[in-house]
Amino acid sequence: MENSLKTEALEKIKSCNNLKELEEIRLHYLGKTGVIAGEMKKLGSLDQESRKSFGAVINEIKIAITDSLAAKKEELEKAFILEKIAKEKIDVTAPIRPEIKGTIHPISFVIDEIVEIFASMGFEVEFGPEVEDDFHNFTALNIPENHPARQMHDTFYMPNGMLLRTHTSSVEIRAMTNKKPPFRFIAPGRVYRCESDMTHSPMFHQLEGMLIDKDITMAHLKGCITEFLQRFFERDNIPVRFRPSFFPFTEPSAEVDIGCSRKNGELIIEENGNWMEVLGCGMTHPNVLRNVGIDPEEYQGFAFGMGIERLAMLKYGIGDVRSFFTSDVRWMKHYGF
Ligand code: DAH
Repeated sequence: MENSLKTEALEKIKSCNNLKELEEIRLHYLGKTGVIAGEMKKLGSLDQESRKSFGAVINEIKIAITDSLAAKKEELEKAFILEKIAKEKIDVTAPIRPEIKGTIHPISFVIDEIVEIFASMGFEVEFGPEVEDDFHNFTALNIPENHPARQMHDTFYMPNGMLLRTHTSSVEIRAMTNKKPPFRFIAPGRVYRCESDMTHSPMFHQLEGMLIDKDITMAHLKGCITEFLQRFFERDNIPVRFRPSFFPFTEPSAEVDIGCSRKNGELIIEENGNWMEVLGCGMTHPNVLRNVGIDPEEYQGFAFGMGIERLAMLKYGIGDVRSFFTSDVRWMKHYGF
């Protein structure tokens, strides 16, 4: 009986070919209520002599089953891994997915170029919120309520009385409130106006600049802007014109134009009687300094606000301002960096 038990068990283990079934076999023979445990129970009713010999036989069968189970388990696990490896083979000859590389948008690139030039001239970089209040965007900049200059800005108003800043000049107020003169900083960022055509987009980018110190004159302003333009366009013979203008926050004020013409939809810098305005500037109005607690008798300075798209269009010959924001991949491939 004992021999047939052993033969039967080893036969079952030998023909088993999956781990789940093998575990069932193990429980059947070696489990707490399994066949071997049942045989062990019989020992109690035997006399000492038979108990000894019967016990030895049962033990030998138990060891044989245990060893056989362990060997089979190892064999099945090995087979399982080999099968898995065979199934998961990587086909190195399969064609790769085409890689799409991004490029840097001309606006980001030009902002970096401008920041680098002003940083080398000692200007820090400031930022301000795009959702702004009336005080920072208008009132503190010497544009009181009902001033006609407010209408020129085509402001987007929010239901809560806030507005989308119409220019980066609002950052002048924020930065000046936190600084003690002398200081100089620039502030790049997005601005918003309710307008759209070939040269206007409802969202565009400006870069504000400001320098406040003692004994600052219009000559410093002109020198700073001229040096910037020469370095930005990488030539010292660009046609530049300072044209008298009006801004409530500067006195005197000027606008700066670059000579250019259009050829085949592209912009080309040249002196030919046509001008494109690229920035507004002037000597900061005493009222603006007073509004932030700076004594205009002691400190003066200048400020400017440049249109980043305009500068990018001129430097890289881009014809239509709206193309910056249409997200056309072909356009990005052509003009991106
Ligand atoms: N904020 C003006 C605009 O958006 C541009 C400007 C003009 C900025 C003169 C200045 C400045 O800082 O001094 O039209």
